[in-house]
Amino acid sequence: MAGREALLAELRGVVGARHVLDDEDVRAGYEVDWTRRWRGEALAVVRPGTTAEVAGVVSACAGARVAVVPQGGNTGLVGGSVPAGGEVVVSLRRLVDVGPVDPLSGQVTAGAGVVLADLQAQLAPAGRELAVDLAARSSATVGGLVATNAGGLRVLRHGTMRHQVVGLEAVLADGSVVSRLGGLAKDATGYDLSSLLVGSEGTLGVVTAARLRLVPTRPERVTALLAVRSVADAVAVAAELRDRLDSLDVAELVVGPTLALVARQRGLVPPFAVVPPAALLVECGSRESAPVDELAEAVLGCGAMVEDAAVSEHPSERARLWQHREEITEALQAAGPPRKLDVSLPLAGLATFADDVVVRVAASFPGATCHLFGHVLDGNLHVNVLGAPEGDGEAVDALVLGLVAAAGGSIGAEHGIGRAKVGWLHLSRSPAELAAFRSVKGALDPAGILNPGVLLPAPGATSS
Ligand code: FAD
Ligand code: MLT
Ligand code: ZN
Repeated sequence: MAGREALLAELRGVVGARHVLDDEDVRAGYEVDWTRRWRGEALAVVRPGTTAEVAGVVSACAGARVAVVPQGGNTGLVGGSVPAGGEVVVSLRRLVDVGPVDPLSGQVTAGAGVVLADLQAQLAPAGRELAVDLAARSSATVGGLVATNAGGLRVLRHGTMRHQVVGLEAVLADGSVVSRLGGLAKDATGYDLSSLLVGSEGTLGVVTAARLRLVPTRPERVTALLAVRSVADAVAVAAELRDRLDSLDVAELVVGPTLALVARQRGLVPPFAVVPPAALLVECGSRESAPVDELAEAVLGCGAMVEDAAVSEHPSERARLWQHREEITEALQAAGPPRKLDVSLPLAGLATFADDVVVRVAASFPGATCHLFGHVLDGNLHVNVLGAPEGDGEAVDALVLGLVAAAGGSIGAEHGIGRAKVGWLHLSRSPAELAAFRSVKGALDPAGILNPGVLLPAPGATSS
């Protein structure tokens, strides 16, 4: 107790008393994740306002041998952003500085706490944007996007968050600060620490700022929701459109039962008279005029694979089409909560996996249904299982992730490993890779104070 009080006093000295939250009610929102599956009591929540303060907080915690959990917008879906019990939550949300857009390099420096939607709004006058976009844009932060290597809706054109990061500033476990914010496009001077921190889920360092590559906005857009005959046809149509259309930014898959569920849960007008086996939401962008004819011609070229289509270039109607895709996560949460599994497959095996997983889950867990959607050209499926018997969650994970591994896929496509999948990492990573992971973690965080139990088992924990 004395140690706790001494640490709290030290933290107050670093960030100011009003940014050390130790009141139970005030802490509560930081202690439970978006899915409400993961929760734990924090020793305190600390809200540093500068990189130096983050360094001071990490040093104080390291000195007291108390673990820290970095937290951004707390929209993560694998339980990595909340404490297990007794850690200090370091909220980065006050690091909201955005530097000027450099017109020559097309880059910007943004603080870890900058919310994605705010960043895009600040960049808009410069005619540029960050190429990563996702439905959690009004809460997810730059630091969280980096730490999870977030993917989202536009990876097919521009890649994941990793591809947008030119360099990072971060605080390491001993409180030292490493910084690569100079914006050098080329820098072959040894280990790329910034790249190592991307996707490290707060286990190797606390990201305080990022130098980001931007893309020119393409504000003239056309969106279409296409009814297709099967997941196999959805894959084929998406690949065809990608090959024909330089303007294609988005290709999102939603299977029929999920399309019906989101309409029912969210009170949306169903987009088609009959619920199709699957639907594809596609979007094209241009700087000049919305490529409506180009998209229509390419869709026609897909022949009988596309059975129906709703198309619009008007912002309000496009937003209505997007609701059928973007509101799925909320709809499933309201109908569930679901068992959420985010996986990727080789594209050639995606349709077979999608068909198999639905049948195998229904056969193994009476009353359970599989909802599938995702970023089809990335091979990324979100498998959400509703209605599995209480207590069968781990068995659902074992079945689905086992099928993924057998099909040569990854058990974590874009949400990360967090606490949810620590026990399954061996399905996607070899013993040699896991040993290298442990060596890296041991070298950068020998006392294990950065997000223990996330990505790798906490020291002393048994792993399944
Ligand atoms: P948090 O949830 O706060 O943290 C996530 C992880 O990053 C934790 O392990 C945390 O410790 C670590 N972390 C956070 N900030 C830092 C930092 N500064 N330094 C070091 N570690 C840090 N994800 C996708 O990839 N694609 C999607 O399409 C997508 N859609 C979503 C839609 C909805 C409705 C929701 C709720 C979530 C969605 N997500 C998606 C998941 C989530 O939004 C992303 O993982 C996002 O990157 C998390 O950002 P955050 O700021 O909320 O991070
Ligand atoms: C999405 O693509 O909408 C997400 O990654 C969120 C989810 O999986 O629910
Ligand atoms: Zn996703």
